[in-house]
Amino acid sequence: MAEVRQRLFFALWPPPELAHELEALAKHHFDWRARRLAAEQIHLTLFFLGPSDVEQRQCAEAVADRVAAAPFTLELSRLGFWSRPRVGWIAPPETPAALVHLVSQLQQGLNGCGYPPENRPYQAHITLLRKLRRPPDVEQLEQPLLWSAREFGLVESEILPDGARYQILQRWPLIG
Ligand code: 2AM
Repeated sequence: MAEVRQRLFFALWPPPELAHELEALAKHHFDWRARRLAAEQIHLTLFFLGPSDVEQRQCAEAVADRVAAAPFTLELSRLGFWSRPRVGWIAPPETPAALVHLVSQLQQGLNGCGYPPENRPYQAHITLLRKLRRPPDVEQLEQPLLWSAREFGLVESEILPDGARYQILQRWPLIG
């Protein structure tokens, strides 16, 4: 029988109220013809693992068990567009040191789980739209949205004909 491989990633998941604000903001500031992520799909990727077998998932969970990272506040104010993946995003003006620390602990630990090394420099962002063709109408929000991040999670992504479905498999608290 074929081996079961789950498509996994580590992420921060916004509280529902913030997710709805982000969904509304995407509608307001970006091209309405692009494909907006639904509020329940909106997240910030920490590390994309990709297809993972059972041992790799256990290894990734053990890495997360060993993470020691403090909670932090994300100030979301910068809007942008990447033309190649055709995504629209919101990001903090600067990546908080605690977030950099969290991501680097995951990256270092996951090197030992048989994943290809991540060569892209980490860019903290929240994808709001896909299949986007043009930049947002503003690059900077006058009033940033604040996100107090208190936990991170391991998430399974399933690709369906109408988009991705995400399921949070396990959560870990950020402890200061
Ligand atoms: P996103 O959907 O949250 O934007 C696999 O390439 C996934 O890794 C992408 O779907 C994207 O997640 C995320 N990603 C791509 N480039 C990245 C980067 N430079 N920094 C952080 N995450 C990135």
